[in-house]
Amino acid sequence: MSTTTDAAAGLVAVETRGSVAFVTINRPDAANALSKALVAALERAFAELAGGLKRGDDLRAVVLTGTGKAFCAGADLKERLTMSPEQTWGFLDELNRLMNAVAAFPRPVIAAINGAAFGGGLELALACDIRIAADTAEIGLTEVRLGVIPGAGGTQRLARVASVAVAKELILTGMRVRAQRAYALGIVADVVPAANLADVAAKLADEIAMAGPLAVAAAKRAIDEGAALPLADALALEAVCYEEVLASDDRNEGLAAFAEKRLPTFKGR
Ligand code: COA
Repeated sequence: MSTTTDAAAGLVAVETRGSVAFVTINRPDAANALSKALVAALERAFAELAGGLKRGDDLRAVVLTGTGKAFCAGADLKERLTMSPEQTWGFLDELNRLMNAVAAFPRPVIAAINGAAFGGGLELALACDIRIAADTAEIGLTEVRLGVIPGAGGTQRLARVASVAVAKELILTGMRVRAQRAYALGIVADVVPAANLADVAAKLADEIAMAGPLAVAAAKRAIDEGAALPLADALALEAVCYEEVLASDDRNEGLAAFAEKRLPTFKGR
């Protein structure tokens, strides 16, 4: 196990257990609101994990969660008050860079929503691949109640994760909904007692870690990139992704393990 905390101000903690990294937003005094410094620290944390992967780290899944009562209360509204329109644009660019880095991270990212996830906080969870929530959590894209709209992917990702109807209901009203409703709407995959959330997220990550990492990465790419394409092109992309895994040692190991009635040992090559 290794733990590193962002040197800047302890805003983000990264702990690695086995082949799973746990990234924890650590600004509980401000409900984990996304200040410029926090956005930069999160981006750095994901960039360092991606760099480690390139250097051969056996990282297979990431769990993203928050310290304290909130997952993330969205943009830091106190800081926002001090920003000019130009500075707000600059901040939105940084925020979108973070969201895109999480969405394109070459391993699955699980959002463990431990409490409030509003505005940019929910957008961050929507950029993840799988969301699970504590039964005490509440979510919402509440921006219209502040006279603005979601600016870090919310209007697009909520419509894709759930549906256009769900995106319109939540975004046009700006209302907050409880975890159980978020589950019914298809936004979160599971709702668990708050005390169990960390364990359930770790177990889910372990399920992913048991699978072939190249296969998981190829499947994520096929799903994400295919979603934006016409069906015929998306099916062609699936074939390209399949080809990547067909030639891998992991594929041979998977078949051998099945024949020998044992668990496979995947090496990611
Ligand atoms: N930006 C900056 N500071 C925020 C914040 C935000 N988005 N959300 C919460 N905070 C701060 C609070 O001002 C408070 O600071 P203070 O102690 O200096 O007053 C601290 O975080 C704790 O928040 P508090 O409201 O006291 O805690 P709570 O547990 O009762 O409620 C929330 C937590 C997240 C439900 C509530 O703070 C909230 O609704 N925040 C606004 C969320 C929002 O509208 N986000 C923007 C979406 S576009």
